[in-house]
Amino acid sequence: MQFCLQGSELEDWLNPLLPKFSQLLKTSNHGKLPLWHTSLKQLPTIEDVTANLNDGVILKSTNYTSEQQSLLRDALEGLHPWRKGPFTFFDTEIDTEWRSDWKWDRLKNHIDPLDNRTVLDVGCGSGYHCWRMAGANAKLVIGLEPMLVYNMQYWAIQQYLNDPRVWVLPLRMEDVPTNLKAFDSIFSMGVLYHRRSPFDHLIELKEALRPGGQLILETLVIDGDDQAVLVPEGRYARMNNVWFLPGVPLLESWLRKLKFKDIQCIDVTETTVQEQRTTPWMTYESLTDNLDHNRSGYTIEGHPAPKRAILIART
Ligand SMILES: C[S@@+](CC[C@H](N)C(=O)[O-])C[C@H]1O[C@@H](n2cnc3c(N)ncnc32)[C@H](O)[C@@H]1O
Repeated sequence: MQFCLQGSELEDWLNPLLPKFSQLLKTSNHGKLPLWHTSLKQLPTIEDVTANLNDGVILKSTNYTSEQQSLLRDALEGLHPWRKGPFTFFDTEIDTEWRSDWKWDRLKNHIDPLDNRTVLDVGCGSGYHCWRMAGANAKLVIGLEPMLVYNMQYWAIQQYLNDPRVWVLPLRMEDVPTNLKAFDSIFSMGVLYHRRSPFDHLIELKEALRPGGQLILETLVIDGDDQAVLVPEGRYARMNNVWFLPGVPLLESWLRKLKFKDIQCIDVTETTVQEQRTTPWMTYESLTDNLDHNRSGYTIEGHPAPKRAILIART
């Protein structure tokens, strides 16, 4: 598969890195790397594959056997944990920990149409939303995801689709060159609270957008005014890498401080145990294990339970 980057501002940045990515995915010293590679190799070749990326991430073919389907299922199980999805691989439904489609449904009618846009999805996980962005006719979608297993899940889909519009790369936002000004839309969803300096993250996002480009920012928030922020001293919902949870008015004021324009909060939703839960494809603990069942609305550490806001803004 070839990067369709010719003539794009991204060519100088990414073309020299591509061989390094394939090397990293082959030689990283992660203990599970051999298992993941075996899983990818075990994926059976299936002919006449088509995709429906408008209603979900749905791979179809009328041309496969039950033996192939069983091989496929075994191979995909080797890429556990499946957190972001769901995915349909022919007859196999991957019921992921998260109903990421619900997040997509909350935002899709509020954002600039993605037709012919160059899009960045920071912290894209398995790439679920990247595929939905391609389904919304984006020209090119670059997803950044440092966790290798999620890169492998993206490659499992790519093995069947060979779609040069969608790339998930093993990079962090901090690796993007400063002042790239290359993307028409940037999604940062579920990343801001993982950053020790939220302002650095917002500045990186702004610098990567072209003038007039759109930021779609989704993050954990708390109730409160433009002074409200929670910085959990210990864990938050068992996560030890959570830093700043602002109130929505404070988050809006951070964006104003950085001279973002047209700032709008388009959704605030409390995460439910229907949206994030343990499934056969993600067998570890999940949201219900992180909540205080004696005190509704609180995490086991006594913090407000997870609530997420989606904001849009323009450079
Ligand atoms: C909570 S998940 C969100 C996934 C997806 N964006 C969504 O909204 O469903 C956050 C993802 O961001 C990745 N991540 C964390 N820090 C990052 C960084 N600095 N740059 C890029 N990705 C990052 C994590 O590995 C993780 O997969």
